[in-house]
Amino acid sequence: MPKPAYMFDNTTAQAQVQVPLLAELLDGHTSGVLGDLAEPGDSWLDLGAGACTVSTWLADRVGSDGMVTAVDLNPMPAGPVRNNLTIHAGDLHELHVPPNCLQGVHARLVFMHLPDRLDLLQQCIEALAPGGWLVLSDWAVWDRMIVDSPSGDATVLLGRFQSHLLQLGEAAGMDIGWAGDANRAFRHAGLVEVQTTTFARTWQGGTGICRLHDSNSRQKEAELIASGFSLDELEALREVLADPRLVLSDYLLHTTVGRKPLPGQA
Ligand SMILES: C[S@@+](CC[C@H](N)C(=O)[O-])C[C@H]1O[C@@H](n2cnc3c(N)ncnc32)[C@H](O)[C@@H]1O
Repeated sequence: MPKPAYMFDNTTAQAQVQVPLLAELLDGHTSGVLGDLAEPGDSWLDLGAGACTVSTWLADRVGSDGMVTAVDLNPMPAGPVRNNLTIHAGDLHELHVPPNCLQGVHARLVFMHLPDRLDLLQQCIEALAPGGWLVLSDWAVWDRMIVDSPSGDATVLLGRFQSHLLQLGEAAGMDIGWAGDANRAFRHAGLVEVQTTTFARTWQGGTGICRLHDSNSRQKEAELIASGFSLDELEALREVLADPRLVLSDYLLHTTVGRKPLPGQA
C-alpha cells in the first residue's frame, strides 16, 4: 500500500503564506527551548524544516565549529545562507545518518503528520550521540480555541471547519493525539530527562492563527468542498477569520525534549 502523503504541499501558492506564518507563530517558543540545549560546536538535524528559520537559528547557535542539516520535501529557505547549514531537498525517510553522531535532532509539526512516527523516533535516537537531544513539537487541539466569537453562527462554522480539516489530516496519516503521547513514547524508547512544555497564545481576527486557518482553508479548498463544505460557507468562514471581534487561541503546541542516556545513565 502506498504511504499516505503529507496533507499540505509547499509547492502550492498558499504555502507561501502558510509556511512563513508557522515560523512567525512559533519561532520565539522554539528558540527559547533550543537555546537551553544547543551549544557551539554541535551537529544538529532539523527534519521537515519548512522555511528553515529554525535550522538557520541553530546554525547561528552552533557557530562555525558546528553544523546543521535541514531536510524537507520542499524546503522554502527565506533568509541569507549560512556556511554551516546544509539544506537537503528530499524525503526524510531516505536520509541516512550514521549512528551516534548528532548532538540534537529537531522536528516541529512534522511527526504528527507521519504515520510511521514511532519507527522514526527510534531512528532519530540511533542517530544521536550519547547525551544528544531529541526535540519534537506538535500541535494538539484543545477545548478553548475559540476565546471570543462575533456570533453563534460564526462559532458553529469555525467548529465545522476545524473538524473537516482534522478529518482530511487523519485521512493523510495525521495523528492529532500524538503530541500528547510523545512524552510517554520518549520514555518508553529509553530517553531520559524527558520534559514536555506547552505553548499557545491568542490572536484577533485577521492576525496570527486566524490567518493560518484562512490560508489552510484556501490550500485545502477543493477537498473541503468535496467533504461537504459549500464555497459560500468557506467565504463566510474567511470573513469570520478576518473579523477583529474574533479571538482564537493557537492549537496547543507540545514540545517534548528527551536525552539519549550517557553510558551508565539510567
Ligand atoms: C507543517 S510544516 C512545518 C514546517 C516547519 N518545521 C515549521 O514548523 O515551521 C511540515 C513540513 O514537513 C515537511 N515534510 C512532510 N513530510 C515530509 C517528509 N516525508 N520528508 C521531508 N519533509 C517532509 C513538509 O514539506 C513541510 O515543510
